[in-house]
Formats: sequence, structure tokens, C-alpha cells
Amino acid sequence: MKRFAVFGNPINHSLSPMIHNEFANEFGIELSYEKILSPIGDFALTANEFIKDGGLGFNITVPFKLDAFNFCEELTSNARAAGAVNTIKVQNKVIYGENTDGNGLVNDLENNLGESLGGKEILIIGAGGATQGILKPILDKNPEKILLANRTSEKSIKLANDFLKFGKVCGFGIHQIKPKPVDIVINATSASIGGGMLDLPSGLCEDALCYDLMYGMQTPFMKWALENSARQVSDGLGMLVEQAALSFNFWHGKSPKTDSVIRLIRETSD
Ligand code: ATR
Repeated sequence: MKRFAVFGNPINHSLSPMIHNEFANEFGIELSYEKILSPIGDFALTANEFIKDGGLGFNITVPFKLDAFNFCEELTSNARAAGAVNTIKVQNKVIYGENTDGNGLVNDLENNLGESLGGKEILIIGAGGATQGILKPILDKNPEKILLANRTSEKSIKLANDFLKFGKVCGFGIHQIKPKPVDIVINATSASIGGGMLDLPSGLCEDALCYDLMYGMQTPFMKWALENSARQVSDGLGMLVEQAALSFNFWHGKSPKTDSVIRLIRETSD
């Protein structure tokens, strides 16, 4: 049996085993996909053990994406730009690292939500690891520009400067956001985890697509967008399934169907 897994801490909540089993069923591929709780600080040890026991690939979630980046011998351009790895493949004893988060988001926006990114003005709020993971794949789609706002303006200014080589991106402080509508607003902060709402001008999201990278609940940002005339509002469940599909492709060379899996998860969580 081909062995795959997802590493994290905590890991119990992970939907990845269910998603990958659905994908494998579509192609009749026999595999096992486990949840592995790695002790903090022991990622490399746990990962080496899994590989020694015949593991062929694994996903990596919070808080180990940077450890995974350092663990890999070869990195894709997406992984290098993100500075983080969410997918590892072991082939001919070489450890390859990829990051599918950004393209997972792009595929959800373009294929599932019908929003092409070319020529659009996109505001991203937050300048942490999540934002670093999505910047290059979005810039690769040639938006008009990315506005990058963060509570700590030094971080968004630095991140924007680091990504200027990939396209037009400009960093500033969250309180400098203008009350002028943009095409797409992406909440990439971790504010929703604590149930906190960001202090945003209401004109901003009029007729915009508003997307929260979080999933599993209607976040305060999503509620605010609905109350302030957003054209469309989405959580990040589609991104979760799309990044898994790209990981599946990295391992098996096949692109699974995603819409039925997204529907299945929405129905079972209702
Ligand atoms: P992640 O990997 O999820 O991106 P992170 O690297 O810790 O996590 O980054 C969290 C992001 O959410 C940061 O941009 C943070 O802003 P600061 O850089 O100013 O800390 C942002 N964030 C978290 N809580 C926030 C809040 N209540 N209001 C505004 N921004 C918040």
C-alpha cells in the first residue's frame, strides 16, 4: 500500500485524509493517508521516520511549513517564493518540496468562483506566512496590482518589496486603506481565529469579491462584507480542496475533480 500523510500540531481536525481518499477513489488508486502529530521541534525526526518506513509523500500544515522548507533537498519555484513547503514527495531518495497553497487559492477563485485575476485590483490584508504563500501565484496571473495592507506596516512594505520582481505590489498600513472599491479583497490575517474584526472602511468592498482564507465558519470579515454590499463572499474551503488536488497531482500526476469534494464537505458540515 502506498503511504501518504499530513503532519501538523494539532492535527486531529484535518480534512486532508478524507479529501485524498475521495481523490484516490476517483482514479482507483490504493493508498493510505494518515494524520501524524509531530512534536513541536521534532519535525525532521518524525518526517525521517515516516520516509524510512516507506512514506512516499506528505502534506505539512501549521506550524511546520518552514521546518518542511528547510528539510527539503529540492524546491519548486513556488516553494522558494513562499519560503514554506506544504507538500513533500520522495522520489529516487530525493526529498522534493512544493507549495500548492497559492495556486490552490488561484484555482478556487478562477475555476470555482468564476473570478479571473488578470487586470484586477486586489487588496490583500495581512503580511504573515499565509500572504507570502499566495503572492507569487496571484502575481503570475497579471493582476492590475496588489495592494498589501498590514497592521504592522513595516512588514507589508518589506514583503511587497521582496515580491516586486514578480509584478506590481505595494505595501502600506491597514489604517491607510482607502474607502474606494477594489475588485477583490482577501483576508489573509489570523484575526478571524480569535473572532476579531478588522477595522476596515465600508466603501472598500462594494461590488467586490471578498475571500477569507479561513474555512469552517462564517468569519467576522465575511459577515462585514455581506453587510457592506460585497458582490460575492467566500471562505477558504475551496482553497483547501484545490491545494490538496495540486498535491495529489504532484504525487500521482493526475488532476482530481474538486467540485464534488467541496460539495461533500459543505453538506457534511451543515
Ligand atoms: P499566518 O501564517 O496565518 O499568516 P502569521 O505569520 O502569524 O500567521 O501572520 C498573521 C497575520 O495576521 C499578520 O499579518 C498579523 O498582523 P501583524 O503583522 O501586524 O501582527 C495579522 N493579524 C493577526 N491578528 C490581527 C488583528 N487582530 N488585526 C489585524 N491584523 C491581525
